[in-house]
Amino acid sequence: MTDSTHRVNPEAYRAPEHHLRESQTLFHTSWLFAGLLLELEAKAHYGVRLGDTELLLQRDKQGRPRAFLNVCTHRQAQLCEPGVHAGPVRCPYHSWVFDQEGMPTGIPCRQAFPQVTASPEKFRLTEFACEAVGQSIFVRLAAEGPSLRAYLGNQYAFLERASAGMHSVQDEFQEEVHANWKVVIENSLEGYHVPAVHTRTFGQIDGMSREEQAPVFFLDDPRHSYLEHAADPDWIRRFTSAERKIGQWPWRFEHYTHRMIFPNLTVTSFMGYSFHIQRFDPVATNRTRVHSRTVGVQFANSTAVGAKMIERIYADGHAFTRRVFAEDCGICRRVQAGLEQATRTAVLGIGIEDRVAHFQRAYLQAMPPA
Ligand code: FES
Ligand SMILES: [Fe+2]
Repeated sequence: MTDSTHRVNPEAYRAPEHHLRESQTLFHTSWLFAGLLLELEAKAHYGVRLGDTELLLQRDKQGRPRAFLNVCTHRQAQLCEPGVHAGPVRCPYHSWVFDQEGMPTGIPCRQAFPQVTASPEKFRLTEFACEAVGQSIFVRLAAEGPSLRAYLGNQYAFLERASAGMHSVQDEFQEEVHANWKVVIENSLEGYHVPAVHTRTFGQIDGMSREEQAPVFFLDDPRHSYLEHAADPDWIRRFTSAERKIGQWPWRFEHYTHRMIFPNLTVTSFMGYSFHIQRFDPVATNRTRVHSRTVGVQFANSTAVGAKMIERIYADGHAFTRRVFAEDCGICRRVQAGLEQATRTAVLGIGIEDRVAHFQRAYLQAMPPA
């Protein structure tokens, strides 16, 4: 699926057998972002599909996240639907109850299952590697592989620090984009399309400096990449002069950052007062489910007027994010339509499309040869 310049072949965006191979290889060996700890209360469980695997997440007695196959060990019923559910895991079919370690603890007509009573651990839910860094929960489907810290490289410290002030999900939406997941991610990795696609959003106002400071790309990690773009000095002044009202937030920086944490997560933030977290789930060759959350952070010393100002800044941010997302959905659909017909690999611009090239290299690296 590569040509001599390490570009991903159009087949990789449209062939169902390629999609299957991705699920069995790349999505199997990578650490996948699953969700946020703050969404997972102590006595709740969470259904999520990563790659082609249905998972159930819950916290154990120590509060650590654990990931299990979402399949009952009695007669294979799906244990829960996607999303958050209160209370312990109870199978909808015959009401077996599983504890926080995945052990079957409540079995109606228990005397009929002496083998389970004798060795319940043999009937424990199938478990996968699961770790959190700060608020972010990751799962690795393969039994063997690098630790989360080694896998994430310097993104580990970023996620840890960003989590320090994370407080609550302020906005959330899930939408299906009619394009391959790689199209959607590649689109988020370049600003070259902005003047053509986002004239009505970014073209207007986005708080980014239009001065000489172009965005700076960080491409050292073989898997992940990020950019930093200096904030407009006027915006920084505005925040500084409002500080007496809005107070301080835990990690304030003076730029916009966009992070691609391979393969299924992007995190963006402007100045650290909120974090926009998107998970990309490939549901079919030409369909991607995007789960988008904006997480607010804790402010200290804000006045009532300041709290209102923050509320307003968040609301404007959510409206902006949704408009930009709708514009991107539209163009990704067109890119997919083109890819269905394409006979050549893409051409990538030097500099402006370096993060797309970086993603394609990381992708090819993670895919074993057919
Ligand atoms: S299939 Fe789950 S309790 Fe029977
Ligand atoms: Fe865009």
